[in-house]
Amino acid sequence: MSVATAEAAETLLGLLDARRSTRRLAAGTFSERFFADLRAAAALTPSAFNSQPWRVVALRERNGAFWDLVEGTIGAWLAGDRRERYLARAAGMRGGGMTILVFEDLARAAPRDGVLPADARDQAAQGLGMLQLALWLVITAHGLATSLQHWHAFLEEAALAFAGLPPEGFRLVALMPVGTPVEAAPERAEGPGQLSVE
Ligand SMILES: Cc1cc2nc3c(=O)[nH]c(=O)nc-3n(C[C@H](O)[C@H](O)[C@H](O)COP(=O)(O)O)c2cc1C
Repeated sequence: MSVATAEAAETLLGLLDARRSTRRLAAGTFSERFFADLRAAAALTPSAFNSQPWRVVALRERNGAFWDLVEGTIGAWLAGDRRERYLARAAGMRGGGMTILVFEDLARAAPRDGVLPADARDQAAQGLGMLQLALWLVITAHGLATSLQHWHAFLEEAALAFAGLPPEGFRLVALMPVGTPVEAAPERAEGPGQLSVE
């Protein structure tokens, strides 16, 4: 499929610019088209050997139950200030009404074709990064917001059990709480970009 270059580039850069980490969310509206676009993004994202070493679970009906579990787990694992901080963060995220759980499928990520185990791990991680950006851009294109959260230390086991995935076959990669942004993202920190044309 070919795309009209100038317009497509402008649209893509507009989405990359609009994509920000948004951690305080109000209830979003999630259309069937939105879910179809998320599915398409997961199917179209490149990965080594096209292995697609992921399992993506979008929680909509079960979103409240998931955040009850998150809050219970924070209460059980963390103490003092840290517990209060994480509970406040969780409160800001559950209100969006939807959460995407990204898991790595370890069988699909396994080394193939003589690739060394360490290289296979690296390639799986790169594919998972591409997947998360693709999902994030779809979310942005639908006027919604999200962030990446890595709460593995206390949540991985509970999240796997909630999704019905065996811990020996899957690994939690990230939570992406989705909703309508409550506040504008802070000014973007100026980065060097790190690309030279030579
Ligand atoms: C691999 C990766 C891991 C990240 N982990 C977290 C995280 O655990 N919690 C969080 O709030 N943000 C996390 N972020 C968000 C970054 O802090 C954020 O993308 C960066 O500061 C730039 O801000 P922006 O996303 O608003 O442009 C992560 C981003 C990436 C790409």
